Amino acid sequence: MSSLSSINKVCVIGAGTMGAGIAAQVANAGFEVLLLDVAGKGEARNATAQLGLDRIAKSDPPLLMLPENIERIKIGNIEDDLPKISTCDWVVEAIIERLDVKRTLYRNLLPHLKEGALVSSNTSTIPISLLMEDMPEHLRKQFCITHFFNPVRFMRLLELVQGEDTAPEVMAVLSDFCERMLGKGVVECRDTPGFLGNRVGVFAMQAAIYEANRLGLRVEEADSLFGRPMGIPKTGAFALYDLIGLDLMADVVRSLRSILPEGDVFHKVGAENDLINSQIEKGFTGNKGKGGFYREEDGKRFSLNLQTGDWQERSGDLPELARIGEAQGLAALIEGDDPLSQFSWNVLAHIFTYSASLIPQVTQSPQDIDDAMKLGYNWVHGPFEMMDILGTDMLVERLERDGWDVPEFLRAAKGESFYSAEKGQLNVRHGDGNYHPIKLADGVARFSMMRRTLEPVYENKGASLFHLANGERLVEFHTKANALDADCVAVMAMAAANPGPGIIIHNDAQHFSAGVNLEHFLLLISAQDWQGIDAFLSDFQKSVAGLLYCEAPVIGAPSGLALGGGYEVLAHCDLVIAHANSVLGLVEALVGVVPAGGGVKETYLRWYKRTGDWEKAAWHCFNQIGYGQTGTSPDLAAKLAYFEPDRDRQVMNRDRLIGESVRAIADMSQGYSPRSKPEFELAGKEVFSAMVEFLEKGQKKGDFLSHDVTVATAVARIVTGGEDGGKANVSEQDMYRFERENFIALAKTPQTKARIKSMLSGRGIIRN
Ligand code: NAI
Repeated sequence: MSSLSSINKVCVIGAGTMGAGIAAQVANAGFEVLLLDVAGKGEARNATAQLGLDRIAKSDPPLLMLPENIERIKIGNIEDDLPKISTCDWVVEAIIERLDVKRTLYRNLLPHLKEGALVSSNTSTIPISLLMEDMPEHLRKQFCITHFFNPVRFMRLLELVQGEDTAPEVMAVLSDFCERMLGKGVVECRDTPGFLGNRVGVFAMQAAIYEANRLGLRVEEADSLFGRPMGIPKTGAFALYDLIGLDLMADVVRSLRSILPEGDVFHKVGAENDLINSQIEKGFTGNKGKGGFYREEDGKRFSLNLQTGDWQERSGDLPELARIGEAQGLAALIEGDDPLSQFSWNVLAHIFTYSASLIPQVTQSPQDIDDAMKLGYNWVHGPFEMMDILGTDMLVERLERDGWDVPEFLRAAKGESFYSAEKGQLNVRHGDGNYHPIKLADGVARFSMMRRTLEPVYENKGASLFHLANGERLVEFHTKANALDADCVAVMAMAAANPGPGIIIHNDAQHFSAGVNLEHFLLLISAQDWQGIDAFLSDFQKSVAGLLYCEAPVIGAPSGLALGGGYEVLAHCDLVIAHANSVLGLVEALVGVVPAGGGVKETYLRWYKRTGDWEKAAWHCFNQIGYGQTGTSPDLAAKLAYFEPDRDRQVMNRDRLIGESVRAIADMSQGYSPRSKPEFELAGKEVFSAMVEFLEKGQKKGDFLSHDVTVATAVARIVTGGEDGGKANVSEQDMYRFERENFIALAKTPQTKARIKSMLSGRGIIRN
């Protein structure tokens, strides 16, 4: 084999859903991509690949982190352009799932491949042994399966499957590239049907559907339990079917059935389903069709009755058990003997016994299955982590009592936990019954795992403070959606008062923080407790100012949403090291308030630093905060000055945030000196009048509603000084005060209360 050790250019063949997604992510990582598909007829030879490119450009949520990244993707077709692959170091095949077509393609690639180029297939179901069967030896060494999940930018799992002859170096190079550059969590799988993610993930969905049918649940009841209360995305099983497409799911289930051995329990829960087939026949293929298990008509929401096949109006209320499960966790879901509790228990029992049955035959390590479910299906906990939460003692006893077939691996673990922390090391119980250190690539760390080996130095309901190996402070929020409350504020203040070599603000939840806790504000508004609001905002401002002027460096390391107050925390850090899919911005206007945790002040200052002109800075603030704009990647947030590309950094793999932050503290803490306090200049009343005029015109044209105008006027007032203000110099404390005053003035309006109420009720943003 040649000494190819780095990947500089990639060819993706097949510009459909997956090929387009892979091409976009490679382009996001800064690499050139050649995207090929079949040749079109006549002049439009690249028409199919062009469709793929259009799909990338129009994707929502966007597959590209920056629209310009599309320029890195060149298209072509497999009849005219195969010679071009000789410049590519890695060729990824993502064409239709047919063995004969894939094999023909590999044969056609052979004469054009660069020496030592890596080749991989994105197949979901075809065993690698079959793909490689008639390959020449040199290609067999260079070939493996890289199984990405859809949508590629957002799904973290990459399953890597080694063939009998695949050279270990090939696995190492691809694993490193996909982990570091494409940001994937790589799980190496054996060549077994469905690998790990779909084997357990599709099984789990089928188990939920099977039990909902058997116990006569409504689909929305089933999704509300096999959903958030279990730490599973709220789409559960039925809404996920709708999202993926009933037809596509039926194909996936069929193809899994065709490759799984006869005795596999999958055949029981994944049997042919007449209701699903009839829905597909009638065009109810899911969200892309007329609906699937759910549909909407004339503003009314319906769900399919699993027993009769008729549509019924969807019940708006969550079952009490779902609410209890969300608040109290898994154990509360399975206590009762009513149908909903039985459903929860049975679904979990299916998932636990099935997962355990895969060890040691399919994998030795429960971590592989847990990682596959967390990274590929966005579960908060994998099956074995859930079993640890419930306790294997109770679990094995109950499974045996209820007549479940308990796999040997689970039975042997009775009374033990699958994960165990010892001397700062997290270990996992393998198929051999022994504990082995968990497996993560070099430089990769997940705080959700790391925290199991650490005792918090301080903890309250909202946040925890940890000391890491070199004394670095780590502040972790852990409220619902990490909405910030007085507890979070207190922990940040505590860290800033005694920062050690530096502070990292980070968590491994789905979202860094969705903003300040609106429920708390609504209570204060309803009680007309304006002083209470002022006191909370004042504490919040003091705590973020504590970060800003801290004696040691402060690093904000977000992933997911960092909005409103969550973003304001980051705005006060010395350095932001953000995951490349982070969404940053000040969205307060959408709920009828202004940022009042220093968000307006920091944005104003940043724009002044960029433009050297307070008036321009005021307009930028007014526009972007008035519209509640966000950047859906750090690159896009940089255009709004919410991310400073000269100073801040983004990383493709969120599992590298901690390592990078620790390194940054080591670099910055020597000779660190806190920042000096800035002076601000208000843009003055002329600018204020121009802003008001802009709003009035917009309102006349119908672009803005009355409360949009009121809120944007409040932003204008903060940065200009308002109708009576001159171009005065003011202090940072003044800016903080203006934010609080304008926030409270808005909080007193019924329109703001209505916006907040709508947000909290799940109806989302309303305009008024
Ligand atoms: P798709 O149907 O969206 O796209 C397939 C593309 O391949 C089409 O654009 C088609 O024109 C092209 N194509 C067909 N024969 C070709 C050939 N000989 N040369 C070049 N291009 C050819 O399919 P999708 O969903 O993107 O799947 C592609 C592969 O990825 C399949 O192996 C599938 O099993 C696998 N996969 C699919 C996932 C999904 O969620 N859709 C997830 C993970 C893997």
